[in-house]
Amino acid sequence: MSRALHLCLRGRDHPIHIGAGVAAEIPRLLDGPRRAFVVCDVARPHARTAVMDGLAAAGWAADALPVEAGEGLKTPAAVNALYGELLARKADRDALLVAVGGGTVGDAAGFVAATYLRGIDWVGVPTTLLAQVDSAVGGKTAINHEAGKNLIGAFHQPALVVCDTALLATLPRRELVSGLGEVLKYGLVYDPPFFERLALDACLALDPPTLAGAIETSLRWKCRAVEQDELDRTGVREALNFGHTLGHALEAATGYAGYRHGEAIVWGMRFALALSVVRGHMAAADRPPLDARLARLDVPPLLDARDALFEKTTRDKKSKGGRTRFVLLRRPGEVVLDPEVTRDDLAAAWDLLREAADGR
Ligand SMILES: NC(=O)c1ccc[n+]([C@@H]2O[C@H](COP(=O)([O-])OP(=O)(O)OC[C@H]3O[C@@H](n4cnc5c(N)ncnc54)[C@H](O)[C@@H]3O)[C@@H](O)[C@H]2O)c1
Ligand SMILES: [Zn+2]
Repeated sequence: MSRALHLCLRGRDHPIHIGAGVAAEIPRLLDGPRRAFVVCDVARPHARTAVMDGLAAAGWAADALPVEAGEGLKTPAAVNALYGELLARKADRDALLVAVGGGTVGDAAGFVAATYLRGIDWVGVPTTLLAQVDSAVGGKTAINHEAGKNLIGAFHQPALVVCDTALLATLPRRELVSGLGEVLKYGLVYDPPFFERLALDACLALDPPTLAGAIETSLRWKCRAVEQDELDRTGVREALNFGHTLGHALEAATGYAGYRHGEAIVWGMRFALALSVVRGHMAAADRPPLDARLARLDVPPLLDARDALFEKTTRDKKSKGGRTRFVLLRRPGEVVLDPEVTRDDLAAAWDLLREAADGR
């Protein structure tokens, strides 16, 4: 049984289907037949087959464009190669791009769809938990620049997103943990009961109803934020950056090789909780149980590079005039945007985090 959500944006409305087997149902969910170009992670043939077989069974013409997943795909050279493939195959403005893979495939293929012939329709088929609960929904597409990640991009909503939970069966535990980091973020920021009650072990064991429920709840919150603030301008969507300031710094400091995205966000959230206390937003006694819940996700140790990380946080994409606006919490479900954080505050929060991390 599949579950359906709807992202309500005037003119860019689209459904999101969640469930085992939905990757094969694209033709049932979209008007067609259409000529489709399936940009797919070369290392995940099971996902490509599920999509291509579904399209073929409905009589759609589909070409597979295999790519290597990873940040190397989010580069001008890789995107240019995809433009070349589409041009060589005479893809016109009615063509449909289907992005099958994790967040890097979705970001890069979505960016190609946003820009090829000034924009063509696309469908997201996210195959990692992180992409299913986060990156595939919201219309942010991007590639990287030498100066930083995701600096070149466009908002381009897909026509449909299908989160096929059966495709997650092959995910290594680290990728599941990374996705669960973002899942717990929705709970902390918007939905305290969800944060407290989500059965993490059942998710890690790929229990189908638990996982589908976690994805659906996460996406309900993501849709609500995107509906209220599609272009990330009013601060509503900014709440989703909880944990991302230090998280991004950790990713950058390790050359995007030390942590999976959601793993870095787990540390970033634990740091943001400590900073919420230091800044006087959160009562000190409220933090330990929240921190302990996040600590249940086994992620690589915290990089011992305090000053380098702080230096990077001031260069965050979201910072204005050298000061970074931190997303902090008064309590779960109540976000505070704080632009007044000082270096001393950061240092005090770091000490609190280190104490918790060392089990003191
Ligand atoms: N657009 C957004 O709003 C948004 C939000 C969050 C993150 N992102 C971006 O998402 C990217 C990270 O996403 P990701 O972690 O999914 O990256 P990814 O695409 O690199 O996938 C991670 C790894 O999982 C493998 N994989 C994919 N599906 C699999 C499956 N079903 N079974 C086994 N292995 C599988 C991939 O081959 C890859 O090795 C980053 O580039 C980040 O910037 C974008
Ligand atoms: Zn994230």
